[in-house]
This record gives sequence, structure tokens and C-alpha cells, in this order.
Amino acid sequence: MRRKFIAGNWKMNGSLAANAALLSGIQANLGSPNCDVAVCAPAPYLDQCRGALADSAIAWGAQDLSAHESGAYTGEISAAMLTDFDCSYVIAGHSERRAYHGESDELVGRKAARALSAGLRPIVCVGETLEERESGRTEQVVQRQLEAVLKEVADADLVRLVVAYEPVWAIGTGKTATPQMAQEVHAFLRGRLAARHAAAATQIQILYGGSMKPDNAADLLAMEDIDGGLIGGAALKAADFLAIIHAAA
Ligand code: 13P
Repeated sequence: MRRKFIAGNWKMNGSLAANAALLSGIQANLGSPNCDVAVCAPAPYLDQCRGALADSAIAWGAQDLSAHESGAYTGEISAAMLTDFDCSYVIAGHSERRAYHGESDELVGRKAARALSAGLRPIVCVGETLEERESGRTEQVVQRQLEAVLKEVADADLVRLVVAYEPVWAIGTGKTATPQMAQEVHAFLRGRLAARHAAAATQIQILYGGSMKPDNAADLLAMEDIDGGLIGGAALKAADFLAIIHAAA
């Protein structure tokens, strides 16, 4: 039985003061959630997350990492640096990085492999644009994105992978995939995972991301292959993030 997993992606938001208020607001009403919970913070705030969350049920992670191990890569952040701050997770291949920073499928695959070899769990994002959906290419696109990652991952590491299906047209737009639309893609992704490794496919958490909010979370999370959410905007408000966690738990 897969545990549900609710992860916040703060994107480029926050400040020391705002994060402190958000994290204490979440912790104040979290209770003992019956699901996995994490926040993915901007890198300068990972130490703050560690300080605030070390004894909590909330894990923390980063939003990106370098595909390189170390060296002359100005501005990059290595997997080992993230583990130095006790990160459990790192997002790889978010559509905003693919679109604004030119990240290719192949680069995302190498980032995921780098994360796994450092002991991090990569949250690998896949998802189609509106144009790709409207031209009937959703499955082709997410399959290509997923296979580029699977190619880099050893069988034994597959269960540490987290996949996030984030249709680009639903991110930050308030438009969400219907539960049925999302379930179709999640089931397709699980089928591709099963083609690679049947046992691992039953264990890998596949999250939905794209305008998941308190009022649509329960319906999305009720679908068989939707194992949680990767939450943008609603992760920045303690009450909204908590409501989604409670919908999952
Ligand atoms: P929103 O929840 O703001 O649509 O963002 C989703 C997302 O991109 C999470 O990574």
C-alpha cells in the first residue's frame, strides 16, 4: 500500500520571517499525519528548514540540483551540499526549469541519477503543455520525459524515485486537471514504470501537481493512482497546505 505524499514547492518565494511563520503555522496544526509531508524550499533557506523541522514529521528538500558532482560550475548546487543540510528530497525537471532554463530530458535524467547516488529522493516532474495536450501528444510527451529518467536509474534505486505529473497548463493557472484526466495519465505512467519493473511500479509514489487546492484535493487524491500532490501556491499558506495534508491523511 502506497502512502500518500504531500510536498510543497515554494518556488522563488519566502523570506526568513515569512518561512518561520509558515513553518510554525503548519506545525501548530499538523498533528501526526498519516501521510508523508515535505517542503521544497529555496536553497538559502534549507538550513532554516533543518532548524525548524528537525524533530518534526515534515521532511525538507530543494527545488533543483546540479547534474555534476562538484567543481567549476559557478552558481550550481551539488547533491552533496543538499545532503549536508539533511535534505531528503530534491525536485528534478520542474517544468519551469525545463521552460526557462532549457533543461532537457537527458539533463533531468542525469540530475535524478545524481540525486539518487547521493542518497536523496528525486521528485521527477513530467507534464505536457496545452498545445501538446490539444494535439493528442500527452502520453508521448510524458513517456519521453519519464524514459529519459528511467534510463539513468538502476533497478535497485527505482523505489526511491518519486514522479510528479504536472500538466504545464494547470500550473499556477487555477485550472486543474479533472480527477479522471489526471488518473488517466497517472495510470499510464504507472504502466510505463511497470514495463520497467513490475514490483517497483506498485511502490513508486506518483504525485499530481497543478493548482491542487483545499477544495479539489480530496477528489484528486481519491483516484487510484494519485498518491499525493506537489503543491505550489497553496503550499505558501499554512491553512491551505494543512487542509491538503488532512485531505490526504
Ligand atoms: P501550483 O500549485 O501553484 O499550480 O504549482 C504547481 C507546481 O508547479 C508545483 O511544483
